[in-house]
Amino acid sequence: MIIQDETKRIFTLQTCNTTYQMKADQNGLLLHTYYGPKIREGDLSRLIRYADRGFSPNPNEAGNDRTYSLDTLPQEYSGSGAGDFRLPSLELELSDGSHVADLRYTGSQQERGKYALEGLPSFFAPEDQAETLVITLEDAVAQVRVEMLYGVFEDCDLITRAVRITNRGGKPVRLRRAASLCLDFPSAQLDFITFDGGHVKERGLNRTPLRPGIQSVGSIRGISSHQHNPFIMLCEPSADEDHGTCYGAALVYSGNFEAAVERAQFEDARLTLGIHPFHFCWTLEPGEVFTTPEAAMICSPRGFGQMSRQFHRAVREHLLRDVWRDRRKPVLVNSWEAAYFDFDTPKLLRLAREAANLGVELFVLDDGWFGHRDDDSSSLGDWWANEKKLPGGLGALATEINALGMEFGLWIEPEMVSEDSQLYQKHPDWALNPPSRPHTRGRCQLVLDYTRPEVREYVAQALEKLLKTAHISYLKWDMNRALTQVWSAALPSERQGEVYHRYVLGVYDLLERVRAMSPGTLIEGCSGGGGRFDMGMLYYTPQIWCSDNTDAIDRLRIQYGTSFAYPPSTMGAHVSAVPNEQTGRSVPLETRGTVAMSGTFGYEMDLGTLPEEEKNLVRHQIRDYRESYQLIQSGDYYRLSPPSPDGAPTAWLHVSQDRREALLCVVSGQVHAGPPFRCLRLKGLDPEKQYRVTGGEELWPGDVLMEAGFPLPMLREYQSLRLWLKAE
Ligand code: DGJ
Repeated sequence: MIIQDETKRIFTLQTCNTTYQMKADQNGLLLHTYYGPKIREGDLSRLIRYADRGFSPNPNEAGNDRTYSLDTLPQEYSGSGAGDFRLPSLELELSDGSHVADLRYTGSQQERGKYALEGLPSFFAPEDQAETLVITLEDAVAQVRVEMLYGVFEDCDLITRAVRITNRGGKPVRLRRAASLCLDFPSAQLDFITFDGGHVKERGLNRTPLRPGIQSVGSIRGISSHQHNPFIMLCEPSADEDHGTCYGAALVYSGNFEAAVERAQFEDARLTLGIHPFHFCWTLEPGEVFTTPEAAMICSPRGFGQMSRQFHRAVREHLLRDVWRDRRKPVLVNSWEAAYFDFDTPKLLRLAREAANLGVELFVLDDGWFGHRDDDSSSLGDWWANEKKLPGGLGALATEINALGMEFGLWIEPEMVSEDSQLYQKHPDWALNPPSRPHTRGRCQLVLDYTRPEVREYVAQALEKLLKTAHISYLKWDMNRALTQVWSAALPSERQGEVYHRYVLGVYDLLERVRAMSPGTLIEGCSGGGGRFDMGMLYYTPQIWCSDNTDAIDRLRIQYGTSFAYPPSTMGAHVSAVPNEQTGRSVPLETRGTVAMSGTFGYEMDLGTLPEEEKNLVRHQIRDYRESYQLIQSGDYYRLSPPSPDGAPTAWLHVSQDRREALLCVVSGQVHAGPPFRCLRLKGLDPEKQYRVTGGEELWPGDVLMEAGFPLPMLREYQSLRLWLKAE
């Protein structure tokens, strides 16, 4: 609910469990007064203190009142160059060379339903499920208008924000920085939690207390990156899974980003989140508008678990689109780790036949099917089948796969070009690169200039043709290198600072076109695994390949970190062969299944090589997954025990909304002789219900399972349990 007190100029956003408030003061400064656990309405600006602080200047309106300073007041959207020396949200470069952005309130407007952002992904809702507040600020001298957009989704405690910036003057204005979110906290007694790593080790959780100064994570790779995720948290130092106030903020964006937190001089803190200012410079001609990507925030008064469940709900219900929001995703087999580039039609059909016999529903042909590609150094851009490997092309192969009772899916990497491709021979300037510089290659390939409509048009037509040649019901949209030499032949020198962002807009444009040309095709996002696992991509691709690391034990940590913001149903997770290619570790098939089944499930191996008893286990896993799908897709997710270096079991629980069913998953780590007796306290059950645990005789009261715990059997190294709890 949005409550506007127009006389006092107080704006309060109420969600189920939280309150957010701001107030335009007597000088028109938009002050942030509160964000936290729900409180009744009222003017919370009484929390703000005024004091004469040395070296904190006073704006002109304050006259000689030395207690009024932009440097000490909590701001809703910080300017720059006008007396607030903390993290800026907006940096302008005006035609006279000045760099001041000083915003004042000019009005507000409330709307039913959720605002939308043209060309950008954003959360959405039917009119009766969300509201919008638009607060307008203006820098009167620069003649720049800033509309602050707030979307309020009461049920899931979600508040979204975006900023629309308009040049209302007669001369061009340059944006040097335009954050999507600025959030001031009265106390810096907070821990900063980020999700970091690299290729094959994405989204490890790191937690540190705020130290004086600015600390930040971000990406300048052109993609949201394997290294840092555009989702961060701040929390009370004592907060944990079930206790304490915590804040999560995600950028709904797939390119360069920066999440920065400053612990300032008076022990207050500021968070800003938005497009990374590195190499960002956007020219606004008179009348032009720039819209920032959306940021999504959830505050939980009861620990990380509740925050994650609310994010999961928000993503499932208000970010994922079309049929794949609710439809069960098919169990797939992917050719990559089974064959890499070494395949032809007979080999693929053998893999497919084995998989079909075991109950797999979708066969995905990964990299290596086009141009003359036999390794990763060639042919990107030439999106037609290699008839030497696949006589009759994709159509013939897809028909044979369909005849086995399976759907057919295909890998593509449409943002890339190889220098030996026909595409590059014809259009060398279509790759990002300043003309005078040699190329920097990544995985032997170059990046297409998606800022250019004609490049996107070419790729769109190639994909449209491809989708017509065969019955393709799934696409894996891969992206295997970071951006360098970011320069577009189609833009003048003063607009090169727009290329990173225009690239991302181009990717979104093409994704939208591909979705429109084949409605119902399931698209899985991928960037060398999890290099672009973000809420921006999820708007177009309802599942994303979580990591190129398919080792089940490493995956525990990757999926654990990912689960803080993203629902399990969005995480591509496959069972692969042992010993694992990345780690050399051998983990039982049962455990590989337990881990992969807590995501969008599939296999990435030659199933024909399995002994008969393992084939039976695969049949069983597929049946089991189908049965548990609804629970994993729409149930509540509880982290019970995190992956631990000391080898203690990792455990999590999926609980149905009515709390009548739950699925307990436990994976044992390294085991040493003489292990302790372990009891696992479950969560989210109905304390008054009696639950029967798979195969057990006894009934377990919910309160016993949650307060005293469930005694775990002794597990061998890397052994796992997948136990159903059903209320009777
Ligand atoms: C990177 C992906 O993450 C892999 O799954 C696979 O599709 C390869 N690319 C193919 O080149």
